[in-house]
Amino acid sequence: MTKRRKKVKKSFKLLITFTLILVIGLGGYFIYNNLFKDDTSPVSSEIEKLMQEANISKDKYSKTLEYVLLNNIYDEKYLDEYADIEFQDKDNFSSILTTFLPLGYSGKEINYIMKLSEKNIEKLSEIDYIDISNYYEFSNFDVNKIDRYDNYYEDNDYSYEDVVTYVNINLDLPVYTDTTEVADPDDLLVLVNKYHYLPDGYKPSDLAHLPGAYGNNVPMREVIVEPFKELQAAAEEEIGVNFMPTTAFRDYNFQRTLYNNYVASDGVEAADTYSARPGYSEHQTGLSIDLKNTAISGSTRLTDENYEWLSNNAYRFGFIIRFPEDKTDITGYQFEN
Ligand code: DAL
Repeated sequence: MTKRRKKVKKSFKLLITFTLILVIGLGGYFIYNNLFKDDTSPVSSEIEKLMQEANISKDKYSKTLEYVLLNNIYDEKYLDEYADIEFQDKDNFSSILTTFLPLGYSGKEINYIMKLSEKNIEKLSEIDYIDISNYYEFSNFDVNKIDRYDNYYEDNDYSYEDVVTYVNINLDLPVYTDTTEVADPDDLLVLVNKYHYLPDGYKPSDLAHLPGAYGNNVPMREVIVEPFKELQAAAEEEIGVNFMPTTAFRDYNFQRTLYNNYVASDGVEAADTYSARPGYSEHQTGLSIDLKNTAISGSTRLTDENYEWLSNNAYRFGFIIRFPEDKTDITGYQFEN
């Protein structure tokens, strides 16, 4: 064996030995901590003394109890709750305890509360006790909306998690009433729907044009032109279909004319299920495209197979199907295939 090989072998042996020692050491520490170390016994005679003075039996010891004793916020009323509260080495731990125990929250509930956002904690601290057990685990839960969540849950067949999301996007409110102007209409992830409208007269500043299915020139935002061309090329190659845009960007007036025509022929209620009111259409963002398979004549735009391919592949180019069949409750629009 060469000198160099011997050296490598020796280093390898050393590494194995070192790893073994490390593994055994960590394992031993883990076993000691989990099986033998008694977390419930007072750690110092000072605590033991404080517990004796307060007539607390030794078996009630917990890190949180130690904390409240040392910080002079112990209250015998909450002795059993302290045992349930996971100690947290945080600045607001003391105020959480002195705020939420008197409000009537149990130790277990306080553990949930500590995981909420600061905003939620602040709001909860200002109101009487409420039962948040159905919601606390959802990070988008908003204490201010608890009554709306409860009502929406009662009226629908959704999970609590979905209820939180849907109420957060106002699905429990009537459409076109409590509406908000979108803050950044140029944002590629902008949400435009029956609750969020575009600023008056909004028009993207980077419009480009692509040939359309009807020999028209279709305006859309420059940023989606290349991804869309890639989608077209992939469709051609993978399923032999030529998808062309019918409309993409539509300005406020265009949308108003469309919507008014639909209302004139079908009435407001029906028109609202398939057409956005002016200012509320994603088409006005210039990021939304209606497609047609050019091989199909008449008003039908896609076959089921075409739609299926788009559903499964649009994401590859950064697009989504905006109004799928199983999401009409959420989008507020009927299936657009
Ligand atoms: N057809 C969609 C909903 C629109 O009018 O924007």
